[in-house]
Amino acid sequence: MIVLALETTCDETAAAVITDRLEVLASVVASQDALHERFGGVVPEIAARAHVQRLLPVVDEALRRAGVALDDLSAIAVATTPGLAGSLLVGLVAAKTLCVALRKPLVAVNHLHAHVYACRLASGVEIFPCVGFVVSGGHTTLFHCQNPSRFDALGGTIDDAAGEAFDKVASMLGLPYPGGPAIARVAATGNAAAFAFPRPLLRDESHLNFSFSGLKTAVRYAIAGRGPCDFASLRLAPELVADVAASFQQAVVDCLVGKARLALRRTGLTRLCVGGGVAANRLFRQQLGEATAAGVELHIAPLELCTDNAVMGAIAIERLRAGAVESLELDVLPGLVRPS
Ligand code: KG4
Ligand code: ZN
Repeated sequence: MIVLALETTCDETAAAVITDRLEVLASVVASQDALHERFGGVVPEIAARAHVQRLLPVVDEALRRAGVALDDLSAIAVATTPGLAGSLLVGLVAAKTLCVALRKPLVAVNHLHAHVYACRLASGVEIFPCVGFVVSGGHTTLFHCQNPSRFDALGGTIDDAAGEAFDKVASMLGLPYPGGPAIARVAATGNAAAFAFPRPLLRDESHLNFSFSGLKTAVRYAIAGRGPCDFASLRLAPELVADVAASFQQAVVDCLVGKARLALRRTGLTRLCVGGGVAANRLFRQQLGEATAAGVELHIAPLELCTDNAVMGAIAIERLRAGAVESLELDVLPGLVRPS
């Protein structure tokens, strides 16, 4: 089997060609970072329009690099949830059109499940059952992953996602978008103990939820006080920026590592699979590795599969094998996954 997977949930336009032996024949990602940078975050309308312009060239390029013709495809997979409504629709309409024209089956991909599945592609070994942890710009969610079609949410953020907090704090500090890599870069020269930022919900072991909006506010108070502030005209000393970035990054990592360990303890599972853009963070990778050393099989997606890509849509191959083909009535489901 050869599957074409499409990914347009947020601001990356991506296509990949993958075989049922999980060989990646091609992977193309067109980033929109440059379009959204001056806004400090993703503007949904701009993202959707850019997907319209880019998706077909990206698909063509993926097929060309794979040396595969449209007729060679066995199925089309597309991420349909969660994400930005307009962005998701562009991917789904393209996928349905290909399915109708080529008379091929349509397979739906849950973008969060795909982020966890990125670990399967890298490790080459079975990952189910596991605790799945998606730490991205839109989500911070822990799952009990039973099989490729059954992911039960164990907890998640009750306000901002970790990546969103990185992006907003970077914007306050005058750093570029996306904020995660920018914060990690300047934090390398800062003192992580310079500011005692809160670790929201970390000590409360009765649940597996996260909260990052209060941490974001604590950073705002530390750099600009409680009154009104025009962040664009704020001139912060580079040493202060580095210390705030390092202290903030450590606070986020403490929360993520602490709850991931709690999820393992609570479920009794011994395998942890981590994906999503924030999983590219070096401090997080290192400290999660140290904190889970004994008896835990830790998989963190490789850097190139942490941020959005279509390769992780290979989860569709396992779902296709299990008969999970969709009707062409299928709709997108933008809604965020919130803990109950
Ligand atoms: O998974 P992703 O590409 O998109 C979503 O599905 O949200 O994640 C993007 C997020 C952004 O918020 C970005 O700032 C963050 O991942 N990110 C990082 C790093 N690289 C990307 N956060 C912390 N450290 C990094 N090195
Ligand atoms: Zn993502």
